[in-house]
Amino acid sequence: MVKQLLRNHSSVRIYDGTPISKEIVEDLIATAQMAATSHFVQAYSVVWVTDEKKKEKLGLLSGNPRQFETSGGAFVFCVDFKRLQMAGKLENVDIIADSAENVLVGVADVSLFAQNFVIAAESMGYGICYIGGVRNKPEEISELLNLPEFVFPLFGLTIGVPARRNEVKPRLPVAAVLHENEYNAQKYEELLPAYNETLEAYYNSRSSNRKIDNWTKQMADFLIEQRRPFMNDFLARKGFNWK
Ligand SMILES: Cc1cc2nc3c(=O)[nH]c(=O)nc-3n(C[C@H](O)[C@H](O)[C@H](O)COP(=O)(O)O)c2cc1C
Repeated sequence: MVKQLLRNHSSVRIYDGTPISKEIVEDLIATAQMAATSHFVQAYSVVWVTDEKKKEKLGLLSGNPRQFETSGGAFVFCVDFKRLQMAGKLENVDIIADSAENVLVGVADVSLFAQNFVIAAESMGYGICYIGGVRNKPEEISELLNLPEFVFPLFGLTIGVPARRNEVKPRLPVAAVLHENEYNAQKYEELLPAYNETLEAYYNSRSSNRKIDNWTKQMADFLIEQRRPFMNDFLARKGFNWK
């Protein structure tokens, strides 16, 4: 059942190395493409990195070398307005690609497309892990993959036959993310300490990488400083000037 599959998701970070075939990749991509897409723009492209040297470099640049090395397939999912620019040219129109709105459109499109790919892959028994780490070195990765203007890497994805599966990680309680009629921030005063207890128990009892940690501490450590401050300039160089 689809719902059970979704509830059993956990990211896989070590695979058995079995390569994924072209036939399967093409089938997963065709399935992913059926995701809804803003105004039918289909503003995504994905680079499948099969060249072993490039794959190794991608693993190093994104800070996940072992995961890439053992994966059966490595992908970089990109926001893509290049194809739309060329579609405009066919109609003798210079499209406006570089607005903040279009970046949001592209990010939404890529994410829905990728998540369809992931669900289809997990339904076949594969494990996956998204790799936001590709945004650590976006210039180098753009160069490695020859990404043109109006195309930028949003995240990577590894896929493969899992060598180890992690226990399912408990999410925030439904009450924390579901609001009725109006937003209510006050409830977090009770819900966040309770969620910390749930996560402390999870981290303390899982089968690998046990640790003492909780969610609010993790988030505070993560968000204490600006993340990837170079991203604004990088996006501008790619043609997205946030107009
Ligand atoms: C866009 C995105 C980027 C991510 N980047 C990384 C990454 O670079 N390295 C990694 O090990 N996990 C990465 N993850 C996986 C998350 O850490 C993981 O989904 C989260 O901790 C929840 O765990 P679960 O997927 O096992 O339930 C990423 C997930 C998403 C959605």
